[in-house]
Order: sequence, then C-alpha cells, then structure tokens
Amino acid sequence: MSGLIRNEDVAYVRDHTQIDAVIGEYVQLKHAGGGQKKGLCPFHDEKSPSFNVNTTKGFFHCFGCGAGGDVIAFIMKLDHLSFTEAIENLADRMGYQLQYDASSASSGPTISKSRLIAANTAAMDFYRNELNQPGAAQAGREFLQKRGFDRAAAEKFSVGFAPDQWDSLYKHLKGLGFSDEEMNNAGLIKEGSRGSYIDRYRNRLIWPVRNISGDVVGFGARKMASDEANPNDQSPKYLNTSETPVYKKSMLLYGLDMAKKEIISKRQVVVVEGYTDVMAAQLAGVTTAVATCGTAFGDDHIKVIRNLLMDADAFSGEVIFTFDGDAAGQKAALKAFDDDQKFATQTFVAIAPDGMDPCELRMARGDEAVRDLVARRIPLFEFAMKVTISKYDLNNPEGRVAALNQVAPLVGKIKDASLRPEYVKSIAGWLGLDVDVVSNAVKKVAGKSNNPIPMAPAPQANLNEPILLLEREVLKLRLQLPELLRGWSLIEQSAFSYPPYQAIRELLDANPQSDVPSLMGGNQVGGEADPTVALMRELIVEPIRIDGEVSEKYAAAIIARIREVALTRQIAEIKSRLQRINPVDEAELYGQIFGELVGLEKERQIQKSLAVGDNS
Ligand code: CTP
Ligand code: MN
Repeated sequence: MSGLIRNEDVAYVRDHTQIDAVIGEYVQLKHAGGGQKKGLCPFHDEKSPSFNVNTTKGFFHCFGCGAGGDVIAFIMKLDHLSFTEAIENLADRMGYQLQYDASSASSGPTISKSRLIAANTAAMDFYRNELNQPGAAQAGREFLQKRGFDRAAAEKFSVGFAPDQWDSLYKHLKGLGFSDEEMNNAGLIKEGSRGSYIDRYRNRLIWPVRNISGDVVGFGARKMASDEANPNDQSPKYLNTSETPVYKKSMLLYGLDMAKKEIISKRQVVVVEGYTDVMAAQLAGVTTAVATCGTAFGDDHIKVIRNLLMDADAFSGEVIFTFDGDAAGQKAALKAFDDDQKFATQTFVAIAPDGMDPCELRMARGDEAVRDLVARRIPLFEFAMKVTISKYDLNNPEGRVAALNQVAPLVGKIKDASLRPEYVKSIAGWLGLDVDVVSNAVKKVAGKSNNPIPMAPAPQANLNEPILLLEREVLKLRLQLPELLRGWSLIEQSAFSYPPYQAIRELLDANPQSDVPSLMGGNQVGGEADPTVALMRELIVEPIRIDGEVSEKYAAAIIARIREVALTRQIAEIKSRLQRINPVDEAELYGQIFGELVGLEKERQIQKSLAVGDNS
C-alpha cells in the first residue's frame, strides 16, 4: 500500500460518504432543520451543542472551538489518522477498492495504522482457526464451556486460541507479507532471548479487542488452567495489548463496537469488569455492556461514553457499574464524592449477590439474573453511603451514632443540593434514626465538609442528670437497705447507663451470696482502691434522697421508674431495628420482633403506673 491514492479516488470517497452517518457513529446528532444537524462537539468539552453538521454540503463546524471541515478532516482529527489513512478508512466502510499511483511511490518507512489493523485482523483469523485445532486448544474450549459459552457465543465474539508454540503466529503473518516491524508495532510479537522474534501470546485464550468503529486493534489473552498449575509460570492471568499506535487503552472499551447503537438508543451503558463478563451480559440480553481492557475506568473512558450519551443539550442516560462489592470497588465508589460529580447523579452501581461477576451470575442463575442485576441498580451515592454504614453494628446506639458521624459529611459533599434532603431521609431509614437527628448531624458538619468529622469525644457524664441520679438512688438502696429492695433482679440488664454503676451491678449480681462489706474486701484507706470499690464506698455513705422515711413503697417506685426508663430505651432500639427490616421480604423476622415490641410496650405501661409513687 505504498504510493499516493489517485485524486479521482479521493474525490469519489469524499462524495460518496454520508457525513452525518460517519459523524453519527461518534456523536449523537439531532435534526436542526434545513439539512442541518447538531450535537456536542467531540473535540472540546461542552454542555450545550455548538457542533453543527451540514449534511447536504458535507461539512461540519463547531462554533465553540472552531474545528471544522469535511468528513475526511473529521476522521483524521478524531481518530488521529493521516490523510491517506482517513481515505482508506472511508473507502473500507463503503467497500471501495482504492487505486494507488505507483509512479509517485514515495511513502517513507512510517507504518500505517491500517497495516497494523490488517495485521491484527489476520492474527484474529489465525487465532480463531486455532481454537478448533486438537491439542492445547482443548483447554481453551473447555474454559469457554465451563464459563457457559457455546460455539456460537465464541464465534459471535471471535474468540480464538494462541497455540502453545513459540512463533506460530509470527510465521503465519510473515507468510502473509507482514513485516517484523509491523507485527512488533502491533504488539503481536516480541524479541525472544535468542534475539529472534517470538509470539507475544502463547497457550492462551484470545479475545480480539475492537475499537468503536469495529477495527481489530488488540487482544486480551487469558492463561490456561494447566499453566496455573505450573508454579514456574509467574505470568499474569491476563495479558492485554499494551499501547500501540492503534490501541489506546485509556479510551478502549471492549464490546463498544457491538453495544454502541444500543447504548445510544437505550441511553444506558453497563460497565462490567472483563471480557467474559461482556460476553455473558450481552448474551443475557444486556446489550449495552462494555468493559475496560485491563485498566481502571478513567476520564478518557468517560469522554467516550459521554459522546454517545449526550443528548440535544445535556448528558442524559445512565452509567451502571457492576463492581464486585470488594474493597477496590468500594474505594472507587467513595471517590465519587471527591470527583467533579458531573455525571454522579447518572451513575449507578449493580452488585450481584455473593460478589459474583456477571459471568458467574449467568452460570449460577441464568440470563434473567443478569438482566435483573442491572435492573436492581442503585445510585452511586447510595451505594457509597451504604458501604460506609455497613462497617458499623447498627444494633446498638453507639454503632448507629458512629455510622451517622461517618456518613453525615458525605451528604454535605453532594454538589447537587437538591439531593441532600432526600439522602437525609434515606439515611434516617437505613440507620433507624429520626430524620431530625440525621439532618442536624449533616448541618453540624456542613461548612467543614472537606474534613472527615472527628469522632465525638466520650462525653463527661453529668452525674446530676435525672436518669443518672435515679440509677445512683437504686444502687444506694441496694447497698444500704437491701431488705427493702424487692425486684432488684427484675431490673433490665441495660438499665444502668453509666459504666461505673453498671460495674457495681455486675459485681453484686456475680456474687449473690456475699454481703457488701465482704465484697468490698475489708479495710481500705484511700482512693487508691479498685474504682468500683471506691464508688461503692461513696454510695454506701451518701444519704438517700428522700425527706421522710425510706419505705418499701418508695423502693418499689424507684425500681419501677428505672425499669420504665430501661424499657423505653429498649423500645426505641427495637423500633429502630424494625425500620431496618423489610416487612415483605423478612416477614417472619418482622412479625417476631413486632411481637417483642408489643410485649415491651405492655411491660412499660405496667412499670409506669407503679412508678407514680416515685418522688425522686
Ligand atoms: N485482568 C487483567 N489482568 C489480570 C487479571 C485481570 O487485565 N492479571 C482484567 C481482564 O481484562 C479481565 C478482567 O480484569 O477480563 C477481570 O478479571 P477477572 O475477574 O480476574 O477475570 P475472569 O475472566 O473473571 O477470571 P476467572 O476466569 O478466573 O473467573
Ligand atoms: Mn471475573
């Protein structure tokens, strides 16, 4: 393919190319009247469309950045092609055979991108054929079968096999006229230890990777199980083509050529993790599935997707990620709050049960489960908040408050302020707290929202608080006049909220036969004694807070009162638990806990009526 393309051919290709059809593969175009179309410029960042295409004249122009020209200029600029490559590209699209002017043959040693694509395409055909050969390829066929892919599925994705030999592809491509340099630049071969070229992929299952236009630009290659059993093989599970002139991994999305049209019409893209996941998702009917090729999902990938999902004047559509719920996925989700959040509200997360990837899910539960997974997506912010909350035990108040402290700053970080009240409500529901409590916590951290909220210091207990005074009175009675105090053993385990009081209660209950002095261990002189013992001493000497005589009735009333307080706490706890249970999905548990709640309410009523004699 040396020499210049004949002028007549250039004119023919230009005149017979529908400019809006070509541009429409990269940019979502809308009719703007009079043979004009509009869209968001792929050459600069913009939110309202200033990119115009005149379909009858065959020109485009962007009023935002000034880019413009004919369809050849568009392809050259967007795909970074030379003029010749652009013509070749357009000619290929219409199946037109170009003629080259041999007389002016002068093209230098530079390797054309179309040669690299041709080499890749020939390699794909070679690998595909190898998948059907006896020998090592058997392992590849078994791998596919084990992953739930039949022959038709493998063919749909042009899956192939790199033989377990040093240079079989190299020899094959050499025979087809490809040079060492071309194969090397395409990433198909590498220099072996003896100075000669060897195939880059050997004994691996091969997925051809196509760019958005459908050209084969690289490969993903998976090691076979027999290699895994071989401890000498330290090579990675997957080899992916590294950067080449036609393989820009930061922009490539596996499956995009197939999914492109569906993504535009359904206004949805599902980002899965690997080659097998794209296959599984697409076969299961999730026709908008794509995956990065061995790299993290980055800004360039966002640009590619953005160009497809941009509607008349705004981004409209959903980007759904199927992370596994593992640490990496969680970290990625939390990053969402720090990003510019341009697309955050359109970003969703779909997590499969048991951390399965779409391929595993399809094998275990079938196609419908994969479609279901996508249907059950949740907003990215919600996912990130739930990840944060999940680190705490919500069955106790400390856990709920700690979770609230961690999640409240996230709400403040949501740039779209109209979403914040919604998340306040949601968090109240997830934590089983009042909306006001959550709202206040969020307000408290607003303003210093970039700093994670410091953990609240353990509050200094105020011993004059009514509840603590009540707890103290109960203990004083127990230590000073135990004969008056019936019903001590009925007091709820959670009744003493001040830990030193609780310690005394535990010491007493652990030694029901011992009298108080022997429990305290005899003589003491100073404050250096065990703090529990020191406190008991205080309580033994402190007057009981009643003017008149300490009666049995008084004792019964304060016992009833402390029980009423404890029951109130338990009821709040259980109500919070109920809020976090789905009455439909977990009907049995819900019923059981609801029964407990009814019992507690009854008991509280009883204690409340007994406590009226309490005048503490
Ligand atoms: N990947 C990679 N390099 C690795 C491992 C993974 O580039 N060493 C990329 C590949 O693009 C792969 C994707 O991450 O498709 C998902 O990896 P993984 O889930 O490990 O691949 P599976 O094919 O699901 O693995 P397995 O067959 O063992 O379930
Ligand atoms: Mn996987």
